Amino acid sequence: MKLPEELLDAAEAYRNEVQKKLVVGHELLYLSQDDVKRIPVTPAEILDRTEKALIAYSAKKVDMPSKIALHPITDTFFHAMPAYVPEEFAVGIKWGSCYPGNREKYGFPQAQGLIIYSDHLSGLPLAVLDCKYVTEIRTAAVTYTAIKYLAPEHTETFGMIGCGVEGRQHVKNIETVLPGLKTIYVYDIYEKAAEKLIEDYQKTLRARIVKASSYEDLVKNSAVIASATVAAESYHPIIEDRWISGGKTILLCEGHTLYQDSIFKRADKYIVDSREQVEQFAAYGFYPFGHPPIHAETGEVAAGKAPGREHPGELIIANNFGMAVEDMFVLRLLFDRALEHAIGVRLPL
Ligand SMILES: NC(=O)c1ccc[n+]([C@@H]2O[C@H](COP(=O)([O-])OP(=O)(O)OC[C@H]3O[C@@H](n4cnc5c(N)ncnc54)[C@H](O)[C@@H]3O)[C@@H](O)[C@H]2O)c1
Repeated sequence: MKLPEELLDAAEAYRNEVQKKLVVGHELLYLSQDDVKRIPVTPAEILDRTEKALIAYSAKKVDMPSKIALHPITDTFFHAMPAYVPEEFAVGIKWGSCYPGNREKYGFPQAQGLIIYSDHLSGLPLAVLDCKYVTEIRTAAVTYTAIKYLAPEHTETFGMIGCGVEGRQHVKNIETVLPGLKTIYVYDIYEKAAEKLIEDYQKTLRARIVKASSYEDLVKNSAVIASATVAAESYHPIIEDRWISGGKTILLCEGHTLYQDSIFKRADKYIVDSREQVEQFAAYGFYPFGHPPIHAETGEVAAGKAPGREHPGELIIANNFGMAVEDMFVLRLLFDRALEHAIGVRLPL
């Protein structure tokens, strides 16, 4: 995909602004995870950028080949995730990994990686940054976008399965998209993770956060259910079909790992972030029983090009596996703000 001719002057003007703060071609901005966290942005801005990313992807306004995956050890992966967003003058690549055994074995979170952010006019690197926080905030924002269009009206109950990095970020600002929540159920195989989430966030949320006693307890009691656990290669479903009634919205960060296949097959609407990526991951063996027909992409629903929830009784599943374009939309904002606030370290090229 090419930069439209009519944007060339604006692109040069933007590059000149960047040049005032960073000597492009001679240095790059390095942002550690702490640096990224210090950049002043609001959850509303992140949600806005992420929703725009989903819409732009589905409107085919970005260049984003499906991510390339390597799987060195069972249930681990590296993803190479490039994207170019002409209208944002944003181009880069995330080299992200997921090693679910990391915490136990090495004391690190499972998701790791770096992003290289570049100048689309010259091809020169602008920034290298730790990708963890960007991934964390944009992934929760993808779920929030899906909730805006797919959750039942007046939702009072939300369930979060997995209370690690992503689960915590999902719960943190959930009331911005589900303002009527009364109860938030949380569940983690590592009980202390659920307890810590409650301890940290109960003071800032109106809804009561309750540690669910089991998967069954959580899914039966929650109208909207999100999960962020482990994207397993092998299929070991734990959540049973008979626990899932109509009217629920199920939001997946890790593919089909947790749920019995028949739940997907009987869903009224099955929505994904990228049709192309779903097919690619099916080829890697991630959907051993196939996936149901795809109703729409999340970006098509957000743009109003495909219906979201139409009836209170619909069972809707959104499988958002993550896209580089989300990182790039958020990164354009973070990069500009980091330069504005002189955050990060300049490294010579
Ligand atoms: N879709 C996306 O864009 C995207 C982005 C980032 C991460 N992810 C995925 O989200 C998942 C979570 O990532 P994270 O960074 O939060 O990891 P994390 O290790 O910080 O948290 C995972 C939590 O899930 C718990 N857990 C593991 N298996 C479980 C199970 N079967 N039932 C209940 N709890 C379980 C763990 O104890 C841990 O607390 C990973 O699969 C990752 O690949 C997806």
